[in-house]
Order: sequence, then structure tokens, then C-alpha cells
Amino acid sequence: MHELLRSAGRHDPVSQRMTGVAVEASERVRSTWEYRITTEYVSGVYAQDHARRLTYVGASPDLIEAAFGVAGDELRHASLVAGLCAAAGGASATPIDPALLAFPNPDTVLTDLVVGTVQNFCIAETVATRLFRHIHASATVAAARAVLDVIVEDEPRHGALGWATLDWLLESAWRDDVRRLITTELDGWIAMFDASYCAASGAVMEDERAWGIPDGDDVAAAWRTCLATDLVPRFAKRGLV
Ligand SMILES: [Fe+2]
Ligand SMILES: [Fe+2]
Repeated sequence: MHELLRSAGRHDPVSQRMTGVAVEASERVRSTWEYRITTEYVSGVYAQDHARRLTYVGASPDLIEAAFGVAGDELRHASLVAGLCAAAGGASATPIDPALLAFPNPDTVLTDLVVGTVQNFCIAETVATRLFRHIHASATVAAARAVLDVIVEDEPRHGALGWATLDWLLESAWRDDVRRLITTELDGWIAMFDASYCAASGAVMEDERAWGIPDGDDVAAAWRTCLATDLVPRFAKRGLV
């Protein structure tokens, strides 16, 4: 377990003094961080699949190495988040949906690579960068902040892998097919993310915010800002919207 977390129990009088808020973790705090263990593992699966698909199509080795680096980051996040859950009195990871564990299919590898690049990295990791920065700004419980310090530092690199892969695909021998697929599907993918990020609801308490829990409006606002400021301009620059 990370040294910072080893000493960061929820009754730690030092953290209570530092934060100035009650740090008792609510059920929502525990369940949100438990869910984040699983999402870190899922992100690790996506990064490993991305590395394998890049390898299948003979992508440049620096992209493949970057994908392995992201997979390592996500496993480190899972470990840190699990430590935080233990400090908050929560449980360990819930199992990943086995449907996510399929190996790359050689018949659809290029399509899967394009879809995964845009959905999991260009969009989801870029939104994660913005959302975790927002969560980090309100997190005052020392143990949560220590984990979020690492996550906010790593997330921009994960989004960057998506944009670098996209640029490589748009220069590749399959560039016409790649461009056709994305311009045909992008509106639908954005609508799917919009429905997901705007579905969360419910206000959170101030001490839940201190533990790194956003409310539904925070999530929707981060998504809308990201879409307008980060995503649409970057897709437009590449002639994809
Ligand atoms: Fe992560
Ligand atoms: Fe990530």
C-alpha cells in the first residue's frame, strides 16, 4: 500500500486538523471509490487492448510503448484507489464484466482500433482530465487528495495517446476508411457520451466533496466544457466534424 495511505485512516486526527471538515466517509463516498477501483481496471483493459491492436496493425513502436505505459498507470491508480477504499472503510474491487476481456479480433482489428481510440482515449480520457481536475480542486481529505494528485498528473498523458493514435491513423494506408468511419459515427458517439455524463443526478454533501465525490451537475458541466473547449475544436482541426 502507498505510504501516504498507510497512515491515512479515516480517524486520523492529523487529516481532520488539515482539512477542517468531518472526514467520516459516507456510504456514497465508499461506494463511489469502490466503483472507481473497477473503472481503473477497465481503463487498464482498454489500454492493453489498445496496445495489442496497435501491434496487430504494425503501428509505430512509440505509440505501442505509450499504450503499455498508460496500462501501467491505470493499474497503479487501481492500487492507490483500493488503498483509499480501505482507509475509508470500503471493500475491494468488484469484478470486471467478462465481455470486456475479449482478445482483439483480427477480422475487426482496424475498426476496433479506431472506435477504441476515439471513444476510450480521445473522448473518455480527455473528459477524465477535466473532471478529475475539478474533483481534485474540492478534495480536502488528505488520503483522497494524495490519490487524486497522481490521477490528475497522469490523465492528460492518457488523452494524448488517443490524439497521437488518431493522427497516426489519419496518415496511415487506411486513412480514407478511418476518416469515413469517424465522420459517419462521431455524432452518435458524442450523443452516447452526452446521455451518460448528463444522466447523473443528486447533490452531494460538503464533506463528500472533500472526499473527491462530484455531484451530477459537476459531471455534466465538466463534460459540456470539455466537449466545447477540447473535443470539438480538436476533431474540427482534423476535418472530422
Ligand atoms: Fe486512471
Ligand atoms: Fe486514465
